[in-house]
Amino acid sequence: MFGKRAHQGVTVAPVAAPAAASTNAEPARGVAAAAPPPPIARESEQRPESYFQTKAMIFSALIEAIDLSALSKLDQESAREEIRDIVHEIVTIKNLVLSIAEQEDLLDDICNDVLGFGPLEPLLARDDIADIMVNGPTRTFIEVGGKIQLTNVRFRDNAQLMNICQRIVSQVGRRVDEASPICDARLLDGSRVNVIAPPLAIDGAALTIRKFKKDKLTLDQLVRFGAISNAGAEILKIIGRVRCNVVISGGTGSGKTTLLNCLTNYIDVGERVITCEDAAELQLQQPHVVRLETRPPNLEGVGQITMRDLVKNCLRMRPERIIVGEVRGPEAFDLLQAMNTGHDGSMGTLHANSPREAMGRLESMITMGGFSLPMKTIREMIVGSIDIIVQAERLRDGSRRITKITEVIGTEGDVVITQDLVTYEVEGEDESGRLRGRHVGTGIVRPAFWERARYYNLERELADALDKVNQ
Ligand SMILES: Nc1ncnc2c1ncn2[C@@H]1O[C@H](COP(=O)(O)OP(=O)(O)OP(=O)(O)O)[C@@H](O)[C@H]1O
Ligand SMILES: [Mg+2]
Repeated sequence: MFGKRAHQGVTVAPVAAPAAASTNAEPARGVAAAAPPPPIARESEQRPESYFQTKAMIFSALIEAIDLSALSKLDQESAREEIRDIVHEIVTIKNLVLSIAEQEDLLDDICNDVLGFGPLEPLLARDDIADIMVNGPTRTFIEVGGKIQLTNVRFRDNAQLMNICQRIVSQVGRRVDEASPICDARLLDGSRVNVIAPPLAIDGAALTIRKFKKDKLTLDQLVRFGAISNAGAEILKIIGRVRCNVVISGGTGSGKTTLLNCLTNYIDVGERVITCEDAAELQLQQPHVVRLETRPPNLEGVGQITMRDLVKNCLRMRPERIIVGEVRGPEAFDLLQAMNTGHDGSMGTLHANSPREAMGRLESMITMGGFSLPMKTIREMIVGSIDIIVQAERLRDGSRRITKITEVIGTEGDVVITQDLVTYEVEGEDESGRLRGRHVGTGIVRPAFWERARYYNLERELADALDKVNQ
């Protein structure tokens, strides 16, 4: 066991008893006029105030008794054992009455504070959570099964929260503080992290984590969840296989990256694929993949590598397909050019609420990128490059669905002409508030990518799938 030693540079502050858990209203339902607030469920398990007091007392005693610098040299298991021994001793000396289960609970909590990401650890360990959203020290929300829930997770104060944010971002060599209050990072498990700290975040640091799913959803699973119909999924598989250029459009968290990952499953194993992302999320199964990631500027403000740099560089790497995680700026121009010049089968996602809006977004990304091309030329470029737009949406009941598979077919004058192949129609709502609907075809039997399907010997499959959606 460690004796008491001087512990300068200790970064972990003792946890004091935080304020009582905030209460929250049940989701408002059946409101006609104003839009109802987002559904908020409350975590069932609430800890009594006495738990936090006991924890704070043990924590202070532990910090007194332990040499943190020596502890940090141990591996997690041994460090945990050390902490366990000391906690047992403190409990005995202070004559605290705790059941074995309570002691184990406390030990977990304390280890998380000392060794890991504190109160976030239990949430990080859960596989069913899609997003963790910390809005300052007293409010942490999670998204589970499409629903947003308030948790009982609380930080002692903003300093503890900032401390944890700092620990997270320092793993990837970044820093977050008043001087550089915005930071993107990644957890070791691949989860995507954004921190925005005070003074920009007014009520305490805001930390957003998109949990990395090791087992990415597959198209077949999306069919099981009702995100797309069987026949719709067949069409998507063919689109992926026959090297259509695809843009996946959707709002924040609507499932764009998931869908992009699904589509890449149908790329032939022989093709050389290069992926460009801000934070590597895609998990391609093919053997011949090069993964690239952008880099923010360093503390001196230099060394930034943008998405545009990556996409341009890609073109010198003999790619057969280029996959851009998220198109949000002037790289749109390079991606379209790549799509136009023999890298068909390239794909990317972008934020837009409809296929038409996606077209508009591409136009504005190109004009704002400083390319002084006439609008007509830009539109022709878009039409000449993009074959398919897949629209993803998170509906008001929290479910994520593919709401459109749309083809870009040409221009008429100045207008880009598109045609929907499949759309999702909401038919009503069941007793539990879940939306009922179905994917329907629009009667098109010969889509513009028919020739491609034929070239890949898949026209029979495409005809069958279209017959089914059009039924
Ligand atoms: N059809 C679906 N059914 C259930 N969960 C889904 C579905 N599609 C995606 N998800 C889950 O939703 C979360 C968000 O998905 P994803 O990261 O693909 O969204 P996104 O649109 O790329 O988000 P962002 O705009 O933040 O990049 C993930 O946890 C993912 O596993
Ligand atoms: Mg995404």
